This record gives sequence, C-alpha cells and structure tokens, in this order.
Amino acid sequence: MRSTQVAIVGAGPSGLLLAQLLSRNGIDAIVLERRSRDYVQARIRAGLLEWTTVELLQEAGVAERVMRDGLVHDGFDVAFANGCHRIDLKGLTGRSVLVYGQTELQKDLVQARASDPGAVLWEVADVVLHDWDTRAPRVSYTHAGARHELRCDYIAGCDGYHGVSRAAVPPQQRLQFERVYPFGWLGLLADVPPLHEELVYAHHERGFALCSMRSRGRSRYYVQCSLGDKVQQWSDSRFWDELAARLPERYAGRLVTGPSLEKSIAPLRSLVTEPMQFGRLFLVGDAAHIVPPTGAKGLNLAAADVRVLARGLVEFYRTGSTTLVDEYSHRALRRVWQATRFSWWFTTLLHRFSADPFAQRLQSAELEYLARSSAASRTVAENYVGPSFD
Ligand code: FAD
Ligand code: DHB
Repeated sequence: MRSTQVAIVGAGPSGLLLAQLLSRNGIDAIVLERRSRDYVQARIRAGLLEWTTVELLQEAGVAERVMRDGLVHDGFDVAFANGCHRIDLKGLTGRSVLVYGQTELQKDLVQARASDPGAVLWEVADVVLHDWDTRAPRVSYTHAGARHELRCDYIAGCDGYHGVSRAAVPPQQRLQFERVYPFGWLGLLADVPPLHEELVYAHHERGFALCSMRSRGRSRYYVQCSLGDKVQQWSDSRFWDELAARLPERYAGRLVTGPSLEKSIAPLRSLVTEPMQFGRLFLVGDAAHIVPPTGAKGLNLAAADVRVLARGLVEFYRTGSTTLVDEYSHRALRRVWQATRFSWWFTTLLHRFSADPFAQRLQSAELEYLARSSAASRTVAENYVGPSFD
C-alpha cells in the first residue's frame, strides 16, 4: 500500500495548485485524476484572475507565463439601453484584474507538477474515500488496470461539481444551499481581435451577452440561451447575429466575426456546501461551491480555498498545530458567501429573467442607478476585484 501526506482528488486548478504549494513547502501529495492529461489541458473555461489569485500563483512559482502573457484590465463596460457605463476598477479600488485563460493556467500547473514524477496519476477510475472521519484516512482507486490503496493524513476533495468527495459525506452531515437559474450561457471562442480593449457585459431585452478575450487575437464571447438549447442549433452565423443584436450599435458595428474554435453551453447555478471540512476531508473549489459565471468568481474562489487550506497544512506539518487547518471551513466560507451574493446579484442585474414588466422596470432602474452613482459603481468594483481578506 502506498502512502502520502495529502491525497488530492482531482487535477483541476484547485488540486494542482494545492499540490504545487504543498510541494514547495516540503509536503508530499499525490493527485488522482479521472481524465487524461490531454483532456484536462484542453478544457475551455474561465478567463479572469483577481490580483490575489495572481499573487498566489507567484507564491506557487507558476506565474511566469501569467505575468508575461496576461492582459491587465483596469476596468470593464456595462452596456444597456444602447449605451455604456465604464466601471473604473483601478480608479475606484486601486486594483486591476488579469485576463488569462484557465486553459493556459491548467497547462502551467501541469507543467510545474511534471517535474515531480508520480505526483499526478492520470486516468484513475473508481476513486473511493475511506475513514476520512478517523485519523487514518485512505483512498482506493483503479489505475492501469489494477486496484490500489493510498494511506494519507488528509484528503483534499478537489474534484469539482460532479466529483465523489462531496457525495462521500452523507447528506444529513452537510447543508446544501442551491439556486438553479432558468437559462444557460452559450460560449464561443474564435481567433478574431476582441471587440474592445476591456470586457463588455451587456444587458438587452433579447438577453445577456459578454464580450471577453483570451489574447489580442483571440476572443471569447457568450450569449444567454435557453436551458433546452443544443449547441447544434447555434450555427456560427446565428451566434454572431445574436451577439451583435444585444450590443450597443457603436460596438456591434465593429464586431469582427470568424469561424468558431469551440462552442459550448453551460448551465448556471449557485451552490454552497457547509461546512467545507469533515474530519480529515476538505472540500475545495467547485467540489464545495458553484457560482454562476457572471463576475468570474469560480476559479478565483477555488484559488482562495487553496490558499487558506495550504496555509493550514503547512502550519500543521511545521508545528503539529491544527489551529489553522480547523479554521479552514469558517475562513473559506466567508469569501464564498461574498462571491455567491455578488455573482447572484450581477446575474440578476444583467440577464433577462421573465416577461414580468415590473421586474424589468426594476432592472432598468438599477442599471440607471449604477450608471449615475459613483457609490453604486464602487460597490460593483470592490466585489469584482475581490476581497483582500482570507
Ligand atoms: P474543476 O476544474 O472542475 O476540476 C475538478 C477535477 O476533478 C477535474 O479535472 C475532474 O476531471 C476531476 N474529477 C472529477 N471527478 C473525479 C473523480 N471521481 N476522480 C478523480 N478525479 C475527478 N468560471 C468562471 O469564473 N468563468 C467562466 O466562464 C467559467 N466557465 C465555466 C465553464 C464550465 C463548463 C465549467 C464546468 C466551469 C466554468 N467556470 C467558470 C468555473 C471554473 O472553471 C471553476 O470554478 C474551476 O474550474 C474550479 O476548479 P476546480 O479545480 O475546483 O474544479
Ligand atoms: C469570462 C467569463 C466570465 O464569466 C466573466 O465574468 C468574465 C470573463 C471569460 O471566460 O473570459
């Protein structure tokens, strides 16, 4: 039977970043990932890093490409009623955000871990968590056709929304807070120059749209779609026409279109699991919580969980004290609920929810207030750049 100090389930951003931080502090960890390395490196997801996330990547020694290729953004636009209001992040908070694709970050993390052979096991099946409520947890799994067992001090469940870690805890031992939104996001990636040098979040009676980017030559666009929609129903030309129809004329007129490299539909939900620690099992990132993508908090929350947990584990292995480790859930949940509230509010502000004229008038009034009030803009900016507490 193999043993390690921390068994990590899942090689998404949270699993690999945790493993990397632990390794730099002399703590042994083994990551068990269900998918292949190529699959994990090709997944297209988030694109925006808060500055505290960038600092954590620096601490982990994986920020070289982030700092070289990431695009610093000092603000973004909120478009509605054929006009635009800029949220001046830098001016209002003194902080900026960085545009850098999760796909690239995932590659950087895989590359960093590759220097430690055996530290990540790819294409592992049937992971089962055992005895996480005792001082001697174990994880069993199938790899290369054989069943194995891994002894450890702690298990970090970094296996996302569909993983086994959250499900390993009986429902009566955890609280789950959930909201499912009645629409999805259809995303399109294309090698065309971005519409504007900053992101544009657009509210329109036809539905929400977001103009984002990955680099100066690669754009990422999203349109709100129906939950039942299938990607095959959305030709590239239908997507581009719909996007243009939801933007103010001055932006729509300069939209550069091109063939899609990828198109996918993501449902929107909010989910928080409490607590995030069960004995010697920690839930980290999407395994513990999901936010709707509006405001780009998902990846940043995952990184924030990792920061809190890594600090606790480093303290434990240095001093034997479990004080910080035992505070993991409490500390992480403070930020999780801040981000859950903001992403719910930003989603509610910008999407088309229903045909209810009262609700629509309230939405318009709130957007108008945002454009008129520097206090309202500052509230958005503070939440968008993320809190500085742990
Ligand atoms: P994940 O990235 O989900 O990683 C979990 C890992 O665990 C995966 O590699 C998975 O294969 C592995 N795994 C799962 N089950 C098992 C198992 N049983 N055994 C072993 N391994 C397992 N956020 C934004 O801010 N903006 C966006 O635009 C955005 N778009 C998204 C689009 C999609 C389709 C999804 C799913 C998420 C999106 N997110 C977005 C959220 C963001 O990508 C996540 O918050 C982030 O990936 C969380 O990282 P994680 O490591 O916690 O989880
Ligand atoms: C991206 C996604 C978001 O949800 C967001 O708020 C900003 C950017 C993106 O994929 O680029």
